[in-house]
Amino acid sequence: MNAPAKTDNAELIVPDGVYAETVLSVTHYTDRLFRFRMTRPAGFRFRSGEFAMIGLMVDGKPIYRAYSVASPSWDEELEFFSIKVPDGPLTQHLQKIQPGDKVLMRKKPTGTLVLDALTPGNRLYMFSTGTGIAPFASLIRDPETYEKFEEVILTHTCRDVAELKYGFDLVDEIRNHEFLAEVVGDKLKHYATVTREDYPFKGRITDLIENGKLFSDLGVPPLDPAVDRGMICGSAAMLKDTKALLEKAGLTEGANNKPAEFVIERAFVG
Ligand code: A2P
Repeated sequence: MNAPAKTDNAELIVPDGVYAETVLSVTHYTDRLFRFRMTRPAGFRFRSGEFAMIGLMVDGKPIYRAYSVASPSWDEELEFFSIKVPDGPLTQHLQKIQPGDKVLMRKKPTGTLVLDALTPGNRLYMFSTGTGIAPFASLIRDPETYEKFEEVILTHTCRDVAELKYGFDLVDEIRNHEFLAEVVGDKLKHYATVTREDYPFKGRITDLIENGKLFSDLGVPPLDPAVDRGMICGSAAMLKDTKALLEKAGLTEGANNKPAEFVIERAFVG
């Protein structure tokens, strides 16, 4: 048996360059997915879409994994959306956190799923599978996204319908938010599909791009490098396959120091 994570104040020795933040709420969606919110240190600045190293002390040693910050950069709290891996070095412990517990976070955020890494365009696609929706949960709540793009299309594909709930709740929250609702207006489109259960929208996003169903369902033209921009976040295989389709459509991959038409980042697990 593994020892529980030691997250109480008395035992926590915080290493240099690390914050120890307090868990405020935990929401479990399925036996594989949960969300938590924690306090945000006053000095912690990040760009919407970036990730930070999140950790816990386990048997006296810190264990970290990269987590996209799911909350937008203006939010006073920090939100994360996580997988639960039964024997995952971090998530087997992290899934047990409760309000009041401490979570470690390294001070420097980073990442390529940021608006600055894209050249200007009209329509921004955010392609996600599973917990890969997290960086986009941040970006779709950031007014800057809607200043830069006329249309924002968030695709989220999971194994089953229960795994889509985080995304549906998020979009509901935006539509009912006192100031975001107006900023977002009808610019945001949420396209959710599943692959292992019956549902009106079925299939891997790669298949739906290839057979054109994504575009016909949304009533938009096929991918066009002149106007469309993309961000991709999912498993290594999903990134590879989706990237190949965007490149086939003529889009080129960008980075922080070389903005272009799409950017990718792996959704981390474990
Ligand atoms: P599938 O059920 O066909 O494997 P996971 O939870 O395993 O990360 O998967 C999340 C979603 O990503 C699932 O719906 C899964 O579909 C899909 N997926 C897995 N591999 C790929 C890929 N190479 N390209 C596109 N989607 C993928």
